[in-house]
Amino acid sequence: MEEEEKRTVETAFVRVDRENPDAATMALAGEIIRQGGLVAFPTETVYGLGGDALNPDASRKIYAAKGRPSDNPLIVHIADMEALAPIAAEVPEAARRLAAAFWPGPLTMIFPKTDLVPTATSGGLSTVAVRMPNHPVALALIRASGGYIAAPSANASGRPSPTRAEHVREDLNGRIDMILDGGPVEIGLESTIVDFTEDVPMVLRPGFVNLQMLRDVLGEVRTDPAILDANAGKNLRPRAPGMRYRHYAPKAPLLIVEGPAERVTERINCLAAEDVARGLSVGIIAAAETAGLYPVGRVRDIGSRSTDEEIARHLFEVLRDFDEEGVDKIYSEAFDTPRLGMAIMNRLLRAAGHRVLEV
Ligand code: TXA
Ligand code: MG
Repeated sequence: MEEEEKRTVETAFVRVDRENPDAATMALAGEIIRQGGLVAFPTETVYGLGGDALNPDASRKIYAAKGRPSDNPLIVHIADMEALAPIAAEVPEAARRLAAAFWPGPLTMIFPKTDLVPTATSGGLSTVAVRMPNHPVALALIRASGGYIAAPSANASGRPSPTRAEHVREDLNGRIDMILDGGPVEIGLESTIVDFTEDVPMVLRPGFVNLQMLRDVLGEVRTDPAILDANAGKNLRPRAPGMRYRHYAPKAPLLIVEGPAERVTERINCLAAEDVARGLSVGIIAAAETAGLYPVGRVRDIGSRSTDEEIARHLFEVLRDFDEEGVDKIYSEAFDTPRLGMAIMNRLLRAAGHRVLEV
């Protein structure tokens, strides 16, 4: 009931050309944000739910629309380097090098904030997360909105991040003013987050910009132990507050089966056969190389292990599809691929509540 009552706004759903966004549409969307309203928009990583980052009321509306706890800070999106100094009190030289290498792009950096950033946006913290997205629609929207857009992923809190405008509509229709549909995103996993507020830069969330790429530019980089380890999160306060919350969770319980390929397939087939015999419907997430080896269950080929960009792009969509199909259980292979394995497994582990079976 309560959920229905919150769906009170008329949400405009507007298609935009990724390469050449219509000027009138972008002006209208920018005006909505300047007036304190909310617009969902495509970025290269996932869809974002945008509001004016410098307006505390807009940030409060973002938390309400997502059902997100208000101590979980928002990323501030900018369109050019000149926009950084007014919101970041201190930008180390190393961060400038990283910006030169990867902005605009799937990278977020954390700095001490200035007073211009309301604590409603920073989740009460004295730091601010900043990203310059690499997407013509996102950049045009930021410019049309006054230069600073606070945007978390445009999903309802706890659900997989949206990689298509339809996913945003499923979660937020009736709660926000506008959804800009720029088609499916390219990357499919949220940006890499690097914290520059301590001596050595620390990765808080892995993403498309992987450790090797960061090391090539920065030299020494640390990683938050909470990234792949459930227990680290219990004893140690995770540095990105968002990592504390249950996340990406499909409705059906998800179990990751990890080990040599042959044994993984064999074990998943065994478990799925038992479930099906009990009348349950089963979803299986498999790489292209092994997808043909599962005779029972709804098998989703998520992409080839040799092109793990494909696996990253499809992960959240596959989890949403299994929700839609109403499967009772989900089994997934592990995807410890060399390039994006850390980012993929970070999301998959959290979707599984860290339930892993070693075979
Ligand atoms: O790719 C992305 O980053 C997408 C698109 C829309 O840009 N945005 C996104 O935002 O993923 P969100 O809110 O879903 O995730 C932001 C994460 C959260 O885990 C949050 O706790 C963390 O960043 N974060 C934000 N500001 C922080 C800060 N000042 N210190 C530590 N963690 C912070
Ligand atoms: Mg999110």
